[in-house]
Amino acid sequence: MRIDIITVLPELIKSPFEHSILKRAYDKGLVEVNLIDLREYGVGKHRQVDDYAFGGGAGMVMMIEPIANCINELKSKRTYDDIIYMTPDGETLNQKICNQLSLQKNLMVLCGHYKGVDQRLRDHFITREISIGDYVLSGGEIAAAAMCDAVIRLIPGVLNDETSALTDSFQDNLLAPPVYTRPAEYNGWGIPEILLSGHLQNIEKWRYEQSVERTKKRRPDLLK
Ligand code: ADE
Repeated sequence: MRIDIITVLPELIKSPFEHSILKRAYDKGLVEVNLIDLREYGVGKHRQVDDYAFGGGAGMVMMIEPIANCINELKSKRTYDDIIYMTPDGETLNQKICNQLSLQKNLMVLCGHYKGVDQRLRDHFITREISIGDYVLSGGEIAAAAMCDAVIRLIPGVLNDETSALTDSFQDNLLAPPVYTRPAEYNGWGIPEILLSGHLQNIEKWRYEQSVERTKKRRPDLLK
């Protein structure tokens, strides 16, 4: 998979892709993330990318021209499965959307700033608008990084058996069960006996029951 991310702050978003599972995904040749500095497409001597909103009101709006030029240049080189705009008024990201996106070949991601982008970009270029939750970040970069992390780890081959996504929370609309590691006793606090039984079938059954219990208690909406 290739992900092209358009941003005015490439430095802000670089680091998550240089560590741990995302780095391994890149090293294995399973994903390539390209950060495109929107400033390079800015207008005039000052490489302007934002301007006052027509009709007045507080806050700047990201201009159509630099973003359109940038998107058109990228589109001239390859076909994109989706051109995603990160915005708090988009559809809320969930594991199902992440699973869908993980099967795509080429994604473009536009990070918004200020009061957002000129609506004409959304009308004519963007194919999908995604929010990572009902709160407003200073820009789309951290949202894009969170989404890309959730998507890349699902690309077939990125995770091995030990880190398999199949046992993640949300993968089957259930939260993950509690987990424990050594020591088996700390400060007088033990662990559930069954985990020491060696009886894999019973352990699986216990984990499933714990998942259901936890989901009922914390996220009953997922069971509907
Ligand atoms: N940009 C600002 N806030 C955001 C959010 N919650 N999700 C996606 N992009 C955003």
